[in-house]
Amino acid sequence: MFKIYSQTDNKQIIASPESTILEATLKAGINHTHVCGGNARCSTCRVYIIDGLSNCLPRNAKEKQLAERLGFPENIRLACQTKIRGNITIRRLVVDDLDIKIILKQFGDTSGTKLGQEKDLTILFTDIENYTQFAEALPAYDVVHTLNRYYQTMNDIIVQHKGIISDVAGDGILALFGVLEDRENPVLDAIDAVRAMHTALIRFNAYLHPIYNRSFEIRAGINFGKVIVGSFDTGMMSKISAIGDAVNFASRIEDMNKDFGTRLLISQSAFEKVKGLVKTHKMYHSGLKGKSGEYTLYDIEV
Ligand code: FES
Repeated sequence: MFKIYSQTDNKQIIASPESTILEATLKAGINHTHVCGGNARCSTCRVYIIDGLSNCLPRNAKEKQLAERLGFPENIRLACQTKIRGNITIRRLVVDDLDIKIILKQFGDTSGTKLGQEKDLTILFTDIENYTQFAEALPAYDVVHTLNRYYQTMNDIIVQHKGIISDVAGDGILALFGVLEDRENPVLDAIDAVRAMHTALIRFNAYLHPIYNRSFEIRAGINFGKVIVGSFDTGMMSKISAIGDAVNFASRIEDMNKDFGTRLLISQSAFEKVKGLVKTHKMYHSGLKGKSGEYTLYDIEV
């Protein structure tokens, strides 16, 4: 007999080698969610193995299939399929109706990003030079219409280069590379995307200039680093977002284009990935707004 400590319920229970974690918790009177009745089809019985993962038997075929589909990390297991050979500590991950709703919605998503995972990603921020003057000078309809054209154009380019737009705010775009598929060099993908965005601007400005007597120029900043990436659902909309200092850092780098009069600045960590593959104009050692210390930034040819 083995011990299972459920942190969620602050309860220790006993499990036999023949019983699954779910069978043991239910037998102990724990209201452990199991929407599909323990058939490895809903994942609502999922538990986080806090301690004793090596005491869990490997995933069986049914669990493996669902875990791969949902992108489960090793320590998230289906309680209805997992048997143990030693003591473990668990946390139940689906504890109320809202949890069930969120989990069941994940079945429409195949990217595996809904769960939240730590990943090395390439983060790209862009903004439009002189956008504020543009927005102030034109009627709201024109501003929104022009920005929609701009977003649409740039989204196509980012997707072509295997990135996704995570967020837009005013004239700013936050795009992530390396989220949906593993790429050999997502930093290079992001740089190529920025170059293609500049090329696309020529056509875009050919539309803009005759109507508004204005043109757009893009500034971009790229960082490579560890972030927590996941899909967030507000009910109204769902989007893939990255959280972490590496994201803020990319935004600060993009900001520095204003000071240096540059078009594309990248961090040291991003530069390491493309050294010898791109042409560098100049290197800057600079402080960044909201951050202590000095950082090395590279001005990359677009
Ligand atoms: S109860 Fe549905 S997958 Fe375990």
